[in-house]
Amino acid sequence: MGASYSAVGWNRQKKIYDWIIFSFCVVYLATFIVLTAIFNPDYTFETVLIRSTSTLAVLILHVILSIGPLTRLNKKFFPLLYNRRHLGVTMFCIILVHGAFGILQFHSLGNVNPFVSLFTSNTHYDSIADFPFQALGFFALIIFFLMAITSHDFWLHNLSPKIWKTLHMFVYLAYFLVVMHVMLGVIQYETNPVFIIIMIIGAITLISLHLVAGLKEARKDKINYNLKEEGFVFVCGVTEIEESRAKIFCIDKERIAVYKHEDKLYAIHNVCKHQGGPLGEGKIIDGCITCPWHGYQYLPQNGQSPPPFKEMVNTYDVKVKDNKVWLNPMPYAEGTERPGANIR
Ligand code: HEM
Ligand code: FES
Repeated sequence: MGASYSAVGWNRQKKIYDWIIFSFCVVYLATFIVLTAIFNPDYTFETVLIRSTSTLAVLILHVILSIGPLTRLNKKFFPLLYNRRHLGVTMFCIILVHGAFGILQFHSLGNVNPFVSLFTSNTHYDSIADFPFQALGFFALIIFFLMAITSHDFWLHNLSPKIWKTLHMFVYLAYFLVVMHVMLGVIQYETNPVFIIIMIIGAITLISLHLVAGLKEARKDKINYNLKEEGFVFVCGVTEIEESRAKIFCIDKERIAVYKHEDKLYAIHNVCKHQGGPLGEGKIIDGCITCPWHGYQYLPQNGQSPPPFKEMVNTYDVKVKDNKVWLNPMPYAEGTERPGANIR
């Protein structure tokens, strides 16, 4: 959370996760290199490196872009999201090798600066069949570079969560550039359509996942809460909320999380101050509402992060009548103490 920074906040879970990523990458690259040596012994080492790293990075990129919608469809995927940044930085390091060897192999042997050669060795910018596809890869690489170097929370706080989030949304532009880089490139140097087929399947899978998850959220947000009384809105029965967990209600376009904790109900704004994670999908750990994305914590009674942290979210009034939960959607200022509602 926001009080101090260390280079990487490794814990046991993150270490295991990083080992799994590292081992997978090593096994993938080794398998690719061995299989190419057997089936295409005439390929140079540079070509094998360019191809093995590019396919691995694109595979990881698809996993990264699937994690968001998957967590919205099933809470079991939250641990993947907790460590998504490590996956992103790993992907960048791998694709950097691809880009560097691409430039070395195709642009470093002439008397023109390799970066100038990247944009000028092929100037068929008006042709689809001969388009200088490597330039698209270069721009995608720049976006991944900016995302990788700003992936630390230090940058999140210094750039502000809004700017940081906007920058990181450029991943979708980068993805589009990668798809075009591969499609236009493969037309030029491959007769085997396998790369194009894999890219199309990957893109369809990603678009479908995003659509299904978006529709699910939109359906939840559309529920109308018509029963109103003195500013309070009837939202659900007391037993519908599990102990130490919450239910999220979208009222007047704001999502509010109502938590049950030690015979009381508390309501706070659903949006985490870190990266906008859904607080109502977390749980109470050590008396604190804990964000399911990266573990930021807030006290249920006032929406404040426990000292020394300083994050705060809005709180709301909630009351219980005849085992029914009523919520007042008027927010209190961030961090305002509210007594909560007794269940019994
Ligand atoms: C400076 C940036 C880049 C350069 C110079 C570059 C260069 C190249 C070249 C020369 C090829 C054809 C390789 C061959 O003949 O086999 C290629 C293919 C490919 N590139 Fe890039 N690339 C760059 C960035 C990227 C990025 C950012 C991605 C994805 C994250 C990517 C993914 C791919 C893929 C999947 C292929 C097809 C598989 C292959 O043949 O390696 N490239 N790139
Ligand atoms: S902890 Fe990262 S979004 Fe909540």
